[in-house]
Amino acid sequence: MDIDALIARHDRRVPRYTSYPTAPHFSAALGAGTAAAWLAALPGTASLSLYLHVPFCRTLCRFCGCHTSAVNSEAPLVTYAAALRAEIALVAQAIGKRLTVRQIHWGGGTPSILPAAELRAITETIQRWFHLAADAEIAIEIDPRRLPPDRLAALREIGVTRASLGVQDFAPAVQETIGRQQSFAETAACADALRGIGVGSINLDLVYGLPHQTADGLQATLRQALTIAPERIAVFGYAHVPWMQRHQALIPEASLPDARARFRLREIAETEIAAAGYLAIGLDHFAKPGDGLARAAASGRLRRNFQGYTDDDADALIGLGASAISSLPQGYVQNAPRVPAYREAVAAGRSPIARGVALDADDRLRRAAIEQVMCALRLDLGALLAAHGAAADALDDAHPALAELAAIGLIAWDGRTLAVPAAARPFLRVVAAAFDRYLDPAPARHAPTI
Ligand SMILES: C[S@@+](CC[C@H](N)C(=O)[O-])C[C@H]1O[C@@H](n2cnc3c(N)ncnc32)[C@H](O)[C@@H]1O
Ligand code: SF4
Repeated sequence: MDIDALIARHDRRVPRYTSYPTAPHFSAALGAGTAAAWLAALPGTASLSLYLHVPFCRTLCRFCGCHTSAVNSEAPLVTYAAALRAEIALVAQAIGKRLTVRQIHWGGGTPSILPAAELRAITETIQRWFHLAADAEIAIEIDPRRLPPDRLAALREIGVTRASLGVQDFAPAVQETIGRQQSFAETAACADALRGIGVGSINLDLVYGLPHQTADGLQATLRQALTIAPERIAVFGYAHVPWMQRHQALIPEASLPDARARFRLREIAETEIAAAGYLAIGLDHFAKPGDGLARAAASGRLRRNFQGYTDDDADALIGLGASAISSLPQGYVQNAPRVPAYREAVAAGRSPIARGVALDADDRLRRAAIEQVMCALRLDLGALLAAHGAAADALDDAHPALAELAAIGLIAWDGRTLAVPAAARPFLRVVAAAFDRYLDPAPARHAPTI
């Protein structure tokens, strides 16, 4: 593979494919009324996964692309927690049955910023309206710089089983530019404390492509991070989108590694992590061989949802909180993105759903193709078409793009099955995009693809 030519050719915007159709294709024409009907249609046997979005942090990191804002008092957190509890009740009433919750994912932002009493109260509200499975997986995203003892105790009480810790990079020059000072010692202490309260699975988030990041610095970060022996590691490519995230404009463009350097940084991460015995999962995850994600990947059960890669096989994913997205059997719906509008809706007893999309048969077929590429790195097109009862030529429009990808060595393709070689893993989204009917061929601005 000629990496430089590939980067030049494919440096265009392709989605991360955490859903299909992707969020920019949701429409305000589909709103609360349809969402209510979809929730009511869930059968009594349906299992649920809940995603609770907490869009607050103590301080904002300049590189951050998440939907979050900085708060320095408890009042907005308490008000927001009340809104989450109200929304849980609204959703449960719309469903009209006490369904079983098999997974809860607290994401953000920094959900561990919620006062301990609020973490408990929200969990109690979930237990009041749903049946929380005894072996439910309870995952939470944590900023290792800030986890006071009362919060740690609350995490034990609400039954956290998996914690995801932000690391990014330990190099001082990187940390200074991204506005995030975090030592290895405080990160390791946080992981130890979580293990001490019985959290069995620790994930570390790292990022390549950050300002002033060097090969040696990233290697040193990885070697330190690996001494924590996390069960999972995610290595995301830095998405620099200052026209969408204004605070990223504080990062000088000249301090960012170019596409070739990004590719090299990614390679270093893969090599270091693989050498420590982890298995590569999909685009950007790694897991110890015995971990649930690795087992799901080995047995073809790996899925991709808004939180990234998961072994979650619940029948519906309900997103709670501002901007949160739900995935229901009929399609996707998203809450009002801004906190005030979200809070006002639930305080008035109204659904905060602002937009969505219903899936037709073609969407479902393409979604399955994209998910298989992103998760399994291979796809038997014939088997997929048969499984969906689709016409033999239903995905023929993807063939020219697939033939082109095969010609440059990004995939092996015999007209029926495609396979992405391990070396082409960084280009997985480009392969998936071959099946995307909505892809904008010439977007005005875009984040780096690789
Ligand atoms: C919700 S945050 C993590 C939890 C916690 N707030 C923290 O920072 O420790 C999720 C992760 O997204 C990743 N992330 C945030 N902004 C990003 C960006 N612009 N590009 C790539 N990854 C990003 C970071 O690795 C971050 O740890
Ligand atoms: S990286 Fe984490 S702590 Fe930093 S702004 Fe983003 S969500 Fe908040």
